[in-house]
Amino acid sequence: MSAFWHWYVAALTLVFIAIMVWLFISTGKAKVSTGQNEAGEETTGHVWDEDLAELNNPMPRWWLWLFYISVIFALAYLVLYPGLGRFDGTLGWSSSEQYEQEMVVANESFETRFQALANEPLETLASNEEAIRVGRNLFAHNCSTCHGSDARGAKGYPNLTDNHWIWGDSTDQIWHSIYLGRQAAMPGFGAALSDQDVTRVATYVQQLAGLDVDQTMAAAGKKQYDMICSACHGPQGLGNPMLGAPNLTAGVYTYGGSLDEIRHTIREGRNGVMPAQKDLLGETRTKLVTAYILSLRPKLDTDEALSRE
Ligand code: HEC
Ligand code: HEC
Repeated sequence: MSAFWHWYVAALTLVFIAIMVWLFISTGKAKVSTGQNEAGEETTGHVWDEDLAELNNPMPRWWLWLFYISVIFALAYLVLYPGLGRFDGTLGWSSSEQYEQEMVVANESFETRFQALANEPLETLASNEEAIRVGRNLFAHNCSTCHGSDARGAKGYPNLTDNHWIWGDSTDQIWHSIYLGRQAAMPGFGAALSDQDVTRVATYVQQLAGLDVDQTMAAAGKKQYDMICSACHGPQGLGNPMLGAPNLTAGVYTYGGSLDEIRHTIREGRNGVMPAQKDLLGETRTKLVTAYILSLRPKLDTDEALSRE
């Protein structure tokens, strides 16, 4: 607030209080009475509907006192607390400071409440009901804006409830994705590839996912793919979780699987960012929200689980 507005607001506040007090004192003293009605009561002289007269009764004492007390309260408040322009008040109280203090207390009690829980390994937490309940809450507040309230994702934000993990499906990899964040770097090839080549390689990407596409287009695209794309997405298109290069054979897309969407990805590149929760949520909360994410993983059937051993 600039100096001008500070004085302007402060002066307005005080002048209004002064005017109110003056108004009450002056009207309290002024004699308006001009007559009497039939019952001998004082009236102000205003008469409506021939016989409805306004009586001239003084304002009740208690009401006036209440008014004066509230004025004194207001003045004392303006001295003690911020309220008069930029003046901070003699107590030095501020709402943001109070909020921060309350947050510190809330944080500490959260930490003490869930510390024991968060000390358990993620594998057990993922089936601990309390951890999942708290984690679901944390997810709703901190993750659902991007990944959706049901964690099924949206265009540009991966689905966290399926078996397709860009950055790896182990507990450690998922923890890393959330705690330390991820930054994907798919370069754009719009400058290196002609429009036709982009369409060819996009067609091949669709073939990798099992779509029935134009064979000659796909064969031409495969050549480009082997040269450029296989370095990151792998020779068979299975992806590379170390780079966050998705598996292109699954038919599961973050950015969409239509020919146009794939062409767009190839031409412009993609740079998805998963924000690190280390400094945002801290370790205890991140652990609980990770437990919730792990609990969403579809149960692998035994064969699949065994083949992973
Ligand atoms: C600002 C948006 C945003 C927020 C908020 C966000 N994420 Fe993400 N998250 C992303 C994006 C984008 C990716 C994909 C990064 C990429 O392109 O590889 C991602 C990836 C992930 C992955 C890895 C998925 C995979 O397939 O490997 C996990 C797990 C994840 N997020 C969990 C969370 C959790 C838990 C939270 C809340 C604490 C959260 N995210 C909050 C945008 C967000
Ligand atoms: C330098 C490594 C790298 C190269 C080379 C590369 N990609 Fe990618 N690609 C990535 C990464 C990383 C992502 C994930 C981007 C993200 O999540 O934001 C990605 C994403 C994609 C996607 C989006 C998948 C989805 O889930 O929507 C497609 C399609 C794709 N790449 C195709 C290609 C093709 C075709 C080529 C060759 C022309 C290619 N990529 C070359 C690393 C690479």
